[in-house]
Amino acid sequence: MINQAIQTLELSLRYSGQNARALDKVSLELSPGEIVLVSGPTGCGKSTLGLILCGAIPGLIPGMLSGSVLLGREDLSTLPMREIAGVLGFLLQNVEQQTFTDQVEEEIAFGLENFCVPAAEIPGRIEEALALVDARHLAGRQLSTLSAGERQRVMLAALLALRQQILILEPLAYLDQAAQQMLLRLLLRLAEQGKAVLIFEHRRDIVHTVAHREIYLQEGRLAVAPEVRASFPRIRQRKPGPTVLDIAQLDFTWSGSDQSIFSSFSLTVGQQESVVLLGSNGSGKSTLMALIMGLLRPTGGRITVCNHDPAAGALRLLARDAAFIFQHPDHQLFLPYVRDEVASQAAEPGAVQAELADMGLEGLEDRHPRSLSMGQKRRLTIAAALARQPKLLLLDEPSVGQDDLHLSRIICRLDRFLEQGGTLLTATHDRRVAEALADRIIRFQEQTAPEPAPCA
Ligand SMILES: Nc1ncnc2c1ncn2[C@@H]1O[C@H](COP(=O)(O)OP(=O)(O)OP(=O)(O)O)[C@@H](O)[C@H]1O
Ligand SMILES: [Mg+2]
Repeated sequence: MINQAIQTLELSLRYSGQNARALDKVSLELSPGEIVLVSGPTGCGKSTLGLILCGAIPGLIPGMLSGSVLLGREDLSTLPMREIAGVLGFLLQNVEQQTFTDQVEEEIAFGLENFCVPAAEIPGRIEEALALVDARHLAGRQLSTLSAGERQRVMLAALLALRQQILILEPLAYLDQAAQQMLLRLLLRLAEQGKAVLIFEHRRDIVHTVAHREIYLQEGRLAVAPEVRASFPRIRQRKPGPTVLDIAQLDFTWSGSDQSIFSSFSLTVGQQESVVLLGSNGSGKSTLMALIMGLLRPTGGRITVCNHDPAAGALRLLARDAAFIFQHPDHQLFLPYVRDEVASQAAEPGAVQAELADMGLEGLEDRHPRSLSMGQKRRLTIAAALARQPKLLLLDEPSVGQDDLHLSRIICRLDRFLEQGGTLLTATHDRRVAEALADRIIRFQEQTAPEPAPCA
């Protein structure tokens, strides 16, 4: 067995067209049998490091690279991609951009076929990989119909099926808490079998339970990891005002499916209230938000948002009063400049700069939204939605890509939104978010009709 899986020596990178180095003389080692957490504030260079280690920089993304990366004893830059892929597997943050097919089994088979696994073995390997991430129930599904966390599980299955020696992952963002724990236990088992795992995550405490070491990056350099932040700001308690959202006896079943997502589900939310939706992957959180916005039609029951009925064609009125921040920031960033994304939504011109500043995005106004980090994209979608001054804000997973500091900023901004009369419905898997934002928690059950539960 090779005694070191990956070693970097004084690795530095400057992206084309930028002055500052994204990575600055980073030397690190990852050995077989080790799980190492890579953390650090947003923009510290984690993703850049991941992209270099998997060979995407400088091959696909141009930049000035110096220093070296050894894979085993070989210099990474001298190895053909095919050879790298044989030992090193990666799944980075954006699970949307890393699929090759349309369907669950095909997606897993794709990698296996490329690795020339004999056809007769492939079905067994697919089955085994799906079982590893508790996703056998997703067999046969089209990827486009999966919830965010379901998709992330399938992507993980596709990776694990390849049985590479080194895994580089940023895997937790969309997984529910049970799936997070299951994956971490699985990684521990793989490490015991001699695999080397590099895992990127902001919620350091979750990964500390299995990681052997932590590498902390700050402004592209190795730094001493600070204590995990123990507490976050919390929104102030307020007495709910008149009803803003009223859901009565909602039924919903996807066409072509025989399993109902909602049956006789009711929920009333008052003005200035902040309700948090919790529940496992695929339990219906995002679906509920799409129903509230009129993007889907209920099979039965009635939804009223700020006195409009989305199913009765009041979509234009609804769009004025309610804003929906999608779970994947990429799904709602379309314009060429960061500034435009906010300006195109803003109720008044002065809001643009103020919202960007509140979300820590000053100085990025002229960047292309797609060039931002995931955490920055998330904050941009929040800035754009708040600039519209909606009465009701639907926020699907606020903490995607956020470090502690930025998450605190988001919480404080949402508190101000509530203070000014806004109403908030948030879906999350992140305990920090639920604790900070919930006046009331609604817990959705496993893939069946959710039932409101009392405050946890
Ligand atoms: N377009 C679609 N067609 C058919 N089924 C769908 C579609 N979109 C979602 N589903 C299914 O509906 C159920 C609820 O999905 P939803 O996206 O609401 O879950 P979620 O609670 O938001 O999950 P996550 O925590 O993973 O984001 C899941 O079983 C999902 O697979
Ligand atoms: Mg969802």
